[in-house]
Amino acid sequence: MKFGEELQAWYRQHKRDLPWRETKDAYKIWLSEIILQQTRVEQGLPYYVRFVERFKNVVEFANAEEDDILHLWQGLGYYSRGRNMHKAARIVRDQYQGVFPVDYQTLITLPGIGEYTAAAISSFANDEAQAVLDGNVFRVLARYYGIETPINSTEGKKIFTAIAKENLDRKHPALYNQAIMDFGATHCKPKLPLCEFCMFRPSCYALSQGRVDQLPVKLKAKASRDRYFNYFILKDNDRILMSKRDASDVWQNLYEFPLLESNYSLSIPDVLSDEWFISCFGPDAQLHVLQQQTKHILSHQNIYATFFEVRLKGDLIQKKSNWDYVFLKDLDKLAKHKLIFTFLERSNF
Ligand code: ADE
Repeated sequence: MKFGEELQAWYRQHKRDLPWRETKDAYKIWLSEIILQQTRVEQGLPYYVRFVERFKNVVEFANAEEDDILHLWQGLGYYSRGRNMHKAARIVRDQYQGVFPVDYQTLITLPGIGEYTAAAISSFANDEAQAVLDGNVFRVLARYYGIETPINSTEGKKIFTAIAKENLDRKHPALYNQAIMDFGATHCKPKLPLCEFCMFRPSCYALSQGRVDQLPVKLKAKASRDRYFNYFILKDNDRILMSKRDASDVWQNLYEFPLLESNYSLSIPDVLSDEWFISCFGPDAQLHVLQQQTKHILSHQNIYATFFEVRLKGDLIQKKSNWDYVFLKDLDKLAKHKLIFTFLERSNF
């Protein structure tokens, strides 16, 4: 049997039953594919279900407010995915009469849709002969064919794209693509792959050379930047001071507490003598630590966050334009990033 046929035979026996596989609706396939970028199936599944229930089609999605989308997205991370989806949905509503495109060339022009996602949607929804290339596929191909070129190098991308194209079963692209991705996700896994039970035992290069745990090769990412976020919790009876992030940094447009960023860990006396802090909260404010420093890892940054409670003597001196008092009972409705809502879950607000 050919490589692709072997994979499809394996898939028929071992495929996972996932809701987005029961449909040819490009809108639902798009939702699932964007959610599953950088997110595991188990984590993404409940989000997929919530989105599909809340927005039955792309026009309902487009008609929502960005805040509603971000709120439903809360906890998934990489929030630009949610924002790009909203932009894409509005383009589909306004320029494509609300009919989700299914061809690769149109899909790739939409915000948030790259080569992988365009190939996935066009093959799953429309059986267009496009080969997907995601982390799972890179791993299967690198091991099976013994490709040592880094998967994240320009040359590597070329080599893997060519092999993926060559292998694609052009008569059954949807089946073939799902098969190779599932095989990578559940069988040819990064750690503890199931080589013992693999139908490719006689032909897998990595297995024959004892190099399964060394393939694929990936170039090291650049070092992460350390940032120190000092959050201030200021309550006023049944309200709390919240701050909306702007569009120039991580967590665009999401809500958090007033923030002082620093290049190193700040102690309470450091904060109390900080000019910005005094200009907002006054010289006599009192502070205590509500949550000790915790580390939060993003793709190219480490965020060290500390949460302080502020008690004022008198009124707030200066309320920044992006700050607002919010009733505690309404806090749930705001789209917050993970650092903030895990803090809120742990504390008794
Ligand atoms: N990861 C990305 N897309 C997927 C899909 N369609 N099924 C399972 N896992 C996936």
